[in-house]
Amino acid sequence: MKRAWWKEAVVYQIYPRSFMDSNGDGIGDLAGITSRLDYLRCLGIDVIWLCPIYRSPNDDNGYDISDYRAIMEEFGTMEDFDELLEQAHKRGIRIVMDLVVNHTSDEHKWFIESRSSKENPYRDYYIWREGKEDGAPPNNWGACFGGSAWEYDEATQMYYLHLFSKKQPDLNWDNPNVRREIFDMMTWWCEKGIDGFRMDVICMISKRREMPDGEIDGLYGSFHESCVNGPNVHTYLQEMNEKVLSRYDIMTVGETPDVTTELARQYAGEDTRELNMVFQFEHIEGEGKYGKWTDEKPSIARLKRILSRWQKELYGKAWNSLFLNNHDQPRMVSRFGNDTPAYRAVSAKMLATCLHMLGGTPYIYQGEELGMTNYPFTDISQFRDIESINAYREWCGSGIVTKEAFWPCLLEKSRDNARTPMQWDDGENAGFTTGEPWIAVNPNYREINAKAQMADQDSVFHYYRKLIALRKKYPIIVYGSYELLACGGETLYAYTRTLEGEKLLVVCSFCDREQTFDLPAEFEGADCLISNLENRYAGRVTLRPYEAFALYQMGSGLRQDL
Ligand code: GLC
Ligand code: CA
Repeated sequence: MKRAWWKEAVVYQIYPRSFMDSNGDGIGDLAGITSRLDYLRCLGIDVIWLCPIYRSPNDDNGYDISDYRAIMEEFGTMEDFDELLEQAHKRGIRIVMDLVVNHTSDEHKWFIESRSSKENPYRDYYIWREGKEDGAPPNNWGACFGGSAWEYDEATQMYYLHLFSKKQPDLNWDNPNVRREIFDMMTWWCEKGIDGFRMDVICMISKRREMPDGEIDGLYGSFHESCVNGPNVHTYLQEMNEKVLSRYDIMTVGETPDVTTELARQYAGEDTRELNMVFQFEHIEGEGKYGKWTDEKPSIARLKRILSRWQKELYGKAWNSLFLNNHDQPRMVSRFGNDTPAYRAVSAKMLATCLHMLGGTPYIYQGEELGMTNYPFTDISQFRDIESINAYREWCGSGIVTKEAFWPCLLEKSRDNARTPMQWDDGENAGFTTGEPWIAVNPNYREINAKAQMADQDSVFHYYRKLIALRKKYPIIVYGSYELLACGGETLYAYTRTLEGEKLLVVCSFCDREQTFDLPAEFEGADCLISNLENRYAGRVTLRPYEAFALYQMGSGLRQDL
């Protein structure tokens, strides 16, 4: 397998709005991030993935971009960005930019031109269709954030496509001018010295021209068949690779909902000249009761099965990205662990062990390294996220589900769970801002905050430091092959990694009861690299709730020589 710096890196995801506010307006900003770089250096991460910081009217918190070459006013100036980049580089930290090019904001100048007349040179930058004879939208597709995926535009009396909100019109990638402009813009950022791109819903950029009705999924038809992994997506990515990516020493990760291992081997293959890796969502995005919405706890047996398949089927062929949460997902300790005071820290460490010992590039979402939890929402007015607010209105308004039945789904899955401010200390607003935060701080910040955890060697924060340091020291963690151990069903996840005769065993308990695990003979006497509780790892091991450990055995040849 080819070695690469991005295979050996650990990435930290920053949601700038909620990370650190430097000027007291309640909104995180670039200068705030710069002021916390030493914290990230202490953690030991190599790369920051910066969620969108471009100019935006913020219909979807920056995922609706009105100018790709300007900074969102609330976040600061281009000088602030240059300073952040320089200070990060000084500390050996690279910066990967979010690239949102499936759609723009409806306030982007291309769209303003496009909607102005059918003859405008920018008309074909977006996807316009006539309505049906009765004036209804061109087909039955629903948008990800509710409503129809088509918006009628009075000026030219046609509909435009928006797979997300109506303020996020989809770009027409079949137009070579669109591709040229995007590649130019990417080159402009690369020339500035940025270190890569995380590509927003990049599997949706190529749409089938016909656009037939989709299968009804909840309230609307699905656009999936026509828009996800569409006919030219690989051609366009190869063109992007040739014209931009291959010219720089950068890393790329594509956000690809509904990707299969087979498709991932194409998107992120060792030799396919597209991307370095993709985010797949199979392990965290099951079938909900109402679209994505459900209040059911995820199945651990399913998680094991899916992660194992991705580990095996990509090995040596493509590269995995590793994550259990991000800015679009609830907090992982609340979802897969146990966020009650007795088990929060230990289960957060267990989940981290489970993920960081796998093959692939790990992504830490801000606050995860502290074991931050979901927010105890009590009222719909506390939500800020367009997806959550629209879903509540639409699903409850439709009469399919009552407010009482939908509410637990919001608590379990709302994206706002991940978007509450970073908890820096036990002072006012958790040290995030001196003003009024744009979204409420989780009331548990007095117990859970960076300052306290940095001072406590036993904290979740220091556990993450150790995990990151181990990955740097043991190539087996990065490059080893993977084998699932059959045991435990819903309660135990154990696997081995192997590299040139060296072996690693990882055992994680996912339950709040004791259980036993029989140590395989080949790991008797192995070194314990890390564990979240004290124990003796020999013979039949009794694991306490949420216990996790990793044992390392040198190659047997080496052992005999000793
Ligand atoms: C991606 C982003 C999400 C955003 C959506 C539309 O899924 O991660 O936050 O809302 O794309 O850009
Ligand atoms: Ca601010």
